[in-house]
Amino acid sequence: MALEKDVFMNTYHRLPVVFTHGQGVYLFGADGKRYLDFTSGIAVNCLGYNYPPLVKAVAEQAEKLIHASNYFQSDTSVAFAERLVSAAGMTKVFFGNSGAEANEGACKIARKYSLMKYGAGRHTIVTLKGSFHGRTITMLSATGQDKFHKDFGPFTEGFRYIPCGDIEALDRALDGSAAGLLIEAVQGENGVVPQTRAFMSAAARLCAERDILLMFDEIQCGMGRTGSFLAATGYGVKPDVITLAKGLAGGVPVGAVLAGGKSADVLDVGDHGSTFGGNPLAAAAGLVVLETVDNQAFLKEIARKGEKITTAIRAWNCPSIKEVRGKGLMIGVDVAGDAWDIMTACLKRGLLVLSAGQNTLRFLPPYVITDAEIDAGLAVLRECL
Ligand SMILES: Cc1ncc(COP(=O)(O)O)c(C=O)c1O
Repeated sequence: MALEKDVFMNTYHRLPVVFTHGQGVYLFGADGKRYLDFTSGIAVNCLGYNYPPLVKAVAEQAEKLIHASNYFQSDTSVAFAERLVSAAGMTKVFFGNSGAEANEGACKIARKYSLMKYGAGRHTIVTLKGSFHGRTITMLSATGQDKFHKDFGPFTEGFRYIPCGDIEALDRALDGSAAGLLIEAVQGENGVVPQTRAFMSAAARLCAERDILLMFDEIQCGMGRTGSFLAATGYGVKPDVITLAKGLAGGVPVGAVLAGGKSADVLDVGDHGSTFGGNPLAAAAGLVVLETVDNQAFLKEIARKGEKITTAIRAWNCPSIKEVRGKGLMIGVDVAGDAWDIMTACLKRGLLVLSAGQNTLRFLPPYVITDAEIDAGLAVLRECL
């Protein structure tokens, strides 16, 4: 831990624990302790740790071929792409390595689509206040939170923010200068804030009427996290473009921008690229995640487990809990005190939870968590609260 301070740039407020390995929903520390995980590496390790089919697929692929570059074809990468577009109800995919990159790809699609059809000047991307879309300079611009708009300017122009749920503001923002609307169906970093059905329906209707691309950032809330494969599906809305990353390959880095209909073939040779994007190793891991998660019975269990957690917490009637929000295994709890203090208290008692802002706890447990493991985690949480 002392060496970490010397060698890393000081960008993370890390907790004082060093993990050596994981198994199921547990991480094991160099301190000899076992930690029950309600975080999934921030919505990444959706199948938990050391999940046998995932480990096997990655090990076998590593022995065959890790990477050859996008100059060449890969049967594993094509199989992954085919399975993913079919699961998401889209037509085409582009693979990068992270969520921010996926969102960059989405914005490029919206801007090129608009430029080709309507000419220059119609390039604004509308996003929501409280959103989080990544850390590249353009994705900081896309992120609708003032605290991200400092120190690194000049920022990319052409982004406009509106409040969540404000249909009138949406109507005004989607004017003749707009190319796309980028939305998280459930805002993650903002403390697990689901959009309303009315707002999502209005977004879909206005975008369709005005030929503005409807783009869903499903990086945190997609891949089954909310109990449907895409959070959008839960709203009965079909976007033009979807971005995924985090849980997509269960811990192996990969990001994806998917497009359907009129936006599927916007990007052409030379328009976009990535050295590592969707290489055979990531694809082998992603295939296992898709085979497991894109399954109605599995998704139903995610919804049930999430319901079990939120129902239990609400029933405590704990005075230090202000509000419980959740969809599937994506849960936010507003607390009276400092979320970081509660996180630290939970850590000391062997439970890993996340915060999202100063007064919100966030739980993103692995999908494979059992009822008994949920009960054990909740008992610790209750004691800490
Ligand atoms: C909704 C959303 N979009 C984009 C990102 C950025 O993803 P990455 O860190 O992989 O670039 C995140 C990360 O937290 C996210 O939650």
